[in-house]
Amino acid sequence: MYKKILSTVMPSWSSSPETLAVKTADSSSSAAATGYNIFRRRNLTLTLLVGVVLGLPCLIYFNDLIPSQLLSLSSFYGSSSFKVDQRLKEVLEKAAMKDNTVILTTLNEAWATPNSVVDLFLESFRIGERTQNLSSNLVIVALDGKAYNRCMEIHPHCYALTTSGVDFSEEAYFMSPDYLVMMWRRIDFLRTVLEMGYNFVFTDADIMWFRNPFERFYHGSDFQIACDYYNGNSRDLRNAPNGGFTYVQSNKRTKQFYKYWYESRKSHPGKHDQDVLNIIKNKNSFKRIGLKMRFLNTAYFGGLCQPSRNLNEVCTMHVNCCYGLDNKLHDLNVMLDDWRRFMSLSADSRKSWKSSWNVPQNCSLRNFHPHPSKKDAKQEKRD
Ligand SMILES: *[C@@H]1O[C@H](CO)[C@@H](O)[C@H](O)[C@H]1NC(C)=O
Ligand SMILES: *[C@@H]1O[C@H](CO)[C@@H](O)[C@H](O)[C@H]1NC(C)=O
Repeated sequence: MYKKILSTVMPSWSSSPETLAVKTADSSSSAAATGYNIFRRRNLTLTLLVGVVLGLPCLIYFNDLIPSQLLSLSSFYGSSSFKVDQRLKEVLEKAAMKDNTVILTTLNEAWATPNSVVDLFLESFRIGERTQNLSSNLVIVALDGKAYNRCMEIHPHCYALTTSGVDFSEEAYFMSPDYLVMMWRRIDFLRTVLEMGYNFVFTDADIMWFRNPFERFYHGSDFQIACDYYNGNSRDLRNAPNGGFTYVQSNKRTKQFYKYWYESRKSHPGKHDQDVLNIIKNKNSFKRIGLKMRFLNTAYFGGLCQPSRNLNEVCTMHVNCCYGLDNKLHDLNVMLDDWRRFMSLSADSRKSWKSSWNVPQNCSLRNFHPHPSKKDAKQEKRD
């Protein structure tokens, strides 16, 4: 599978991001675009949480840790009927803003170790402009026991989300089977949050918060999503969305939409949530929901695929278009240094500041290597 992806995508890598963006927009159904869709998926970088199924020992460990939460949400494979989770209710209540909005991120062990992604994420709130208070509305959703323990040490609002039989603590390489399970688990969880009446900003932890994004969100929209590549029109469905950053109101349409999105995984096996979103957004059943959807401008909500050039305007920066945790951490640190240098200037110098970011450096789509785990090695042979 990975070889196939590589061969379709390789030629594109030499072209500029702009060229890629145009290609994607113009030929979303072509084979090349399909390969690329998979690639530009949020966290390309994602050395995320691959679950190795550790089985029973892990379940017992986690059970000891937080027994009341274990299996309290419907299991990933089971029916996803809505059920209120008492501990989730408490955490959301404590963290929510006056208008019932919470900020959510997910965390696994690989990103939770000291000086890893989560520390840099929280640091961005501290050194951002008018972002300090926002971290009090942030709920960190831990996907394994170690991430939960680390969260409890560094943050007031932690919730442990469990999926029976799957352990997400290890690096989940992009598009590996456990990566897919994890991504869909997240959609199901966010649906639950909407059902409980909370609006949310979902943010990947490798997104730095430099300014308060609420000052740049659209009014009167149900679902707003960041883009790897933004084409200038916030209503154009051909934008290349990145599910790593969304702002969603809890209402009838969004609840229906998340349900539909989650259910659609069954008719698109092997695809992740973002690919499925790109498919269903053109369907009549999606249009019937009447979801008011907007795409966020990368000038404010940028990333390494298409950086926000002006540090006077940026709200968030995502280390997308990046493979490998070390590369990601390297560029995250460079980005934070750029921001600190900018913030140390006088107000006048900031206004006339013309330089952009000193990234990407080590981050690149070129660094994609097929998944190293045994499970996937086998799968690759089959392909
Ligand atoms: C942030 O919190 C501090 C202390 O709780 C408060 O004094 C300040 O007004 C808050 N700032 C904003 C922008 O809400
Ligand atoms: C980043 O790239 C530089 C130059 O290629 C290299 O020397 C360094 O080891 C890289 N750092 C990481 C963390 O990979």
